[in-house]
Amino acid sequence: MVATRAAQVLVASNRGPVSYARAEDGSLTARRGGGGLVSGLSAIGADAGSVWVCAALSDDDRAAAEAAGGRLDPADTGGQSVRMLDIDPAVFAGAYNGIANSVLWFVHHLLYATPLEPVFNQDFRAQWASYESYNAAFADALAEEAAEGSAVLVQDYHLTLTPRLLRERRPDLRIGHFSHTPWAPPDYFRLLPDDVAAEVLLGILGADRAAFLTRRWADAFTACCADLLGAEVTTDGAESAVRHDGRTTRIGVHGLGADAEFLRERAHRPDVNERLAALREQIGRDRKVIVRVDRTELSKNIVRGLMAYERLLATHPEWHGRVVHVAFAYPSRHDLAVYRDYTATVQRLAEEVNSRYGTVDWQPLILHVRDDFARSLAAYRLADVALVNPIRDGMNLVAKEVPVVSDGGCALVLSREAGAFAELGDDSITVNPYDVEATARALHEGLTMPDGERAMRSKRLAAAATALPPQRWFLDQLAALGG
Ligand code: F6P
Repeated sequence: MVATRAAQVLVASNRGPVSYARAEDGSLTARRGGGGLVSGLSAIGADAGSVWVCAALSDDDRAAAEAAGGRLDPADTGGQSVRMLDIDPAVFAGAYNGIANSVLWFVHHLLYATPLEPVFNQDFRAQWASYESYNAAFADALAEEAAEGSAVLVQDYHLTLTPRLLRERRPDLRIGHFSHTPWAPPDYFRLLPDDVAAEVLLGILGADRAAFLTRRWADAFTACCADLLGAEVTTDGAESAVRHDGRTTRIGVHGLGADAEFLRERAHRPDVNERLAALREQIGRDRKVIVRVDRTELSKNIVRGLMAYERLLATHPEWHGRVVHVAFAYPSRHDLAVYRDYTATVQRLAEEVNSRYGTVDWQPLILHVRDDFARSLAAYRLADVALVNPIRDGMNLVAKEVPVVSDGGCALVLSREAGAFAELGDDSITVNPYDVEATARALHEGLTMPDGERAMRSKRLAAAATALPPQRWFLDQLAALGG
């Protein structure tokens, strides 16, 4: 593939806008991803001056990337110029499964607890070497593609080393880094081996600007820079900056909102209506509905959410037969045993609730584990109460999407540890995600909220949730990098 050094705007992320799967006839078909990240980054547009660099995530992606010579067929990407990197599978596994999803994800979400304690041994070191190569592969590709002085937006915890590596290769570029996760406080971040912790911070500080979803995560990052690197942190009004080794990195905050126009239109298409009818049938008439939709992943705290629902049924028998909990828990990162085990625990708990409380004509809990976006939207429309109780979350778009889509307005039970809490806290029912009893009480409060109040709060939640649409999130970051 000939690299052109022609792109004026570049995005780099682990997951790209499309993934590939083999159809029955053996051909490769492209599937466009959903979610705020893809729609936000899609604002990069389809003009000739932009390139999105991402990794091949599977053998099918690799085959498609190879067949297309690295640059995907624009017919698959809606015209977008996408360069998919064919990274050696062992390197990819070490970087993505090993460092990104087993270490950095756990650190930023404070997920380590006995028996899941970190052991930084020789396997970790091999994975760390993979993470370095993986980040270098992105830096090489970006350096090849970028025109003189262009803007590069590097995304997330998979690519913390890329900004610095790219600056070494191309000092002329304007580089931004955006973290979609929370950031760990210094005392927890120090779990990482000292050299690794420093490399992660210095990698991001290679950017001209590092941005976060909330002020809380931005402040945690600057606190880590001050504590671990001895960097100088300055604050001038809403803007802060980190000065280290003669360079200054500006720090920004950009909340990512729900895409109201897209969601409202998509939620009324025939495939959603069909699923809505099927769900209504399954739920039964005159029953309240509690909805949750998550990737099955430890930070989402699905297990404590199900325990809270069980406590609701145990402490409020008046809800028996009058409420149904619709829980969609879509498998994520199943190459890793810890994520697979978590899905199995969720399934076991759901069965227990149904066998303890279910009756011939009432199934108290409907759990689905197969990803289906149209069915999620149908559940959003039915929600009387949305349960979003992560242990920690960068933002959590479900908390923002349900109030936008729900037909009758919903009460939102929201963890104070979700980034979305900064924008939605005033009109939600706040919970400490570890407190199962308090979560059960919050569910009861949501279910008994008077209709008028629920509708009014839901309207305000929807307004707050859509204040910063994904496209604006992207364009604001680009503007902040300057011209
Ligand atoms: O929250 C961080 C994040 O990268 C999100 O942007 C994204 O939705 C999620 O993790 C996806 O994780 P994965 O690509 O591992 O499925």
